[in-house]
Amino acid sequence: MGCALVGCGKAIPALEVENTALEALVDTNDEWITTRTGIKSRRIAVEESSADLGEAAARQALGWTEGGHSERSFAPEEIDLIICATVTPDSIVPSTAGLLRRRLGLKSAIAFDVNAACTGFIYSATVAEAMMAASAPSADGSAGRNPIRRALVVGTERLTRLTNWADRNTCVLFGDGAGAAVLEWDESRPGILGSFIVNADDDENALTCPLSYGTDLPFDAQGVSSQSPALKDASAIRIDEELAIREAVESGNPRQTLRMNGPHVFKFAAEAMTEAVHRSLDRAGLSLDDIACIVPHQANERIIKYAAKKLHLPMDFFQLSIAEAGNTSAASVPMALADAYAEGRIRRGDKVILVAFGGGFTSGAIVYEA
Ligand code: ACO
Repeated sequence: MGCALVGCGKAIPALEVENTALEALVDTNDEWITTRTGIKSRRIAVEESSADLGEAAARQALGWTEGGHSERSFAPEEIDLIICATVTPDSIVPSTAGLLRRRLGLKSAIAFDVNAACTGFIYSATVAEAMMAASAPSADGSAGRNPIRRALVVGTERLTRLTNWADRNTCVLFGDGAGAAVLEWDESRPGILGSFIVNADDDENALTCPLSYGTDLPFDAQGVSSQSPALKDASAIRIDEELAIREAVESGNPRQTLRMNGPHVFKFAAEAMTEAVHRSLDRAGLSLDDIACIVPHQANERIIKYAAKKLHLPMDFFQLSIAEAGNTSAASVPMALADAYAEGRIRRGDKVILVAFGGGFTSGAIVYEA
């Protein structure tokens, strides 16, 4: 018995931006971006929110709309859990999973978000599987509390809202989108065969995005009140905040944008991907010979090439979706997975590896039987 992947889908924003359009923003060119990253274009969510994208991907995964891969159409009351992986929620409260619960009418579901950067989907699916296993009926047939048989796991991002569009080292890399999967506890299928998630310290702050809260404290560390917040009206707070952000941008140190030491992340990523593949296979009691295809996080085609070399695998073993998507963080793996199904790469009974790495640092992999 196991946790089977029974549906997946993806959604992309309407606006497509090609590499050449970035030449007007920073000192870069299509040739550099293509050869160093494999990216040709990306989608940018101008109008769509993270919940909009997540909702559209979820509807496909649930079998409610065309375009995804779903074994059947799931009724709203069948979904017991929603986990949404994102670093770009529309709001801190409610969670994006909570927004999806309301929009999709999944009234029976527990809903919460997970932030594990680009590994978010792998972490979320691992948590969902663990919650299902913990609540599965015991040998005497009695179910645990909150029995969870089906989970909707979504990765949705608008990374372009955290992008410093003046920094050529990062602005060429990111894109927006969402992917979703439905997991079902099934006594007759093996489903997830092994998973491995791990954290490492990002000691050199190679990948960070500071948080800018909406207001300043009216107290100093000694508890002395500098200015009553009551005297500071809402518009004044907003103006201060805008000023602070403008000053930060002008000083070349914008708040709340992703900062990255690319080569440092590259080094971590290449090692983390290969380790996660091996460790998840060990846990599943399998070898690479048993695997039909690998769906990796789409951060940089060169990282995937490096992993292919280390694993002694040909590149066509890997799903490649980066050319028209860029790095969509937690959405990347489920979007690429939806592509793999759409391209007919994954058939029932195939054993597949999902693998990712991301800020934090996080990394992990899941091996499942389709
Ligand atoms: N256009 C033209 N030149 C550029 C650009 C650009 N867009 N960006 C950097 N360069 C220049 C650099 O300034 C440097 O010039 P210099 O030699 O004169 O100093 C030169 O190109 C080489 O720069 P590197 O950083 O060494 O280039 P590299 O080959 O390492 O590629 C890249 C950079 C693409 C960022 C790569 O390091 C990478 O992909 N790293 C991993 C990124 C990643 O996976 N991030 C995950 C994010 S996960 C998350 O949680 C969001």
